[in-house]
Amino acid sequence: MVTAMTSQSTDRPRRVRVHHLREAKERGERISMLTAYDAMVAQLFDEAGTDVLLVGDSLANVVLGRPDTLSVTLDEMIHHARAVAGAARRALVVGDLPFGTYEASVEQAMGSAVRMMKEAGVSAVKLEGGIRVAEQVHAMTQAGIPVMGHVGFTPQSEHALGGKRVQGRGQDAADALCDDALALQQAGVFAIVIEMVPAALGQRVTEILEVPTIGIGAGPYCDGQVLVWQDMAGLGDWSPRFAKRFADLRTALGDAARAYGDEVRRGTFPGPEHSFDA
Ligand code: KIV
Repeated sequence: MVTAMTSQSTDRPRRVRVHHLREAKERGERISMLTAYDAMVAQLFDEAGTDVLLVGDSLANVVLGRPDTLSVTLDEMIHHARAVAGAARRALVVGDLPFGTYEASVEQAMGSAVRMMKEAGVSAVKLEGGIRVAEQVHAMTQAGIPVMGHVGFTPQSEHALGGKRVQGRGQDAADALCDDALALQQAGVFAIVIEMVPAALGQRVTEILEVPTIGIGAGPYCDGQVLVWQDMAGLGDWSPRFAKRFADLRTALGDAARAYGDEVRRGTFPGPEHSFDA
């Protein structure tokens, strides 16, 4: 997304707001979104021009080493979201509402979203599901909380969905997914993540919606793309098929740790330039 990047009076980067995403879609400009979970990475991606930083509940997998996203708590999410929101100067920061913090009722969803906004300082929240959460989305957006939707493969439902599987295959499933996306738009979301669906369905949803779609494993026709940053940068020992590894951090960091260990064992680090005089 190419916007007027700085405000002329201060030379500060201009903050990406939810309406900029809609305008980017209208202009046919693609939106770049990455996950971030800490201040240093958030600052780096912000300076690199990433439009949206998502403090995803993938925190559970890639930071906390858990097998799925279900166990991560709202407190844990807020802890990391506060670090990201504090570091980003330009990017729109979105905090994921974790499993069990919004499904039961409008009151539960409102309470969780308000905590995420007040305590973490994010500019928007994200939750998973379509028609089943439309009432919650409507209440939040009416209360002035920007909400990002998430349809297709929704990791918080992975046990109900039978594992990490492509969603929306076949006419009925594709139609149901479109109905979910339209219900979210009607309820007031400013954008929708579409995860792991056939590219043609990603295109169909993108064409029927006025709000932007952000794809992850949803093909090239979405209005934007999102990846978990460790997948994007090649930090893990594997990446999902839909994720391109734009760097090989795993090799670079492993090499650095080995070189450091060798120098410590040989006594060549620290050298005089890393030591203090009396
Ligand atoms: O939690 C997360 O990282 C996400 C993205 C994969 C969209 O929801």
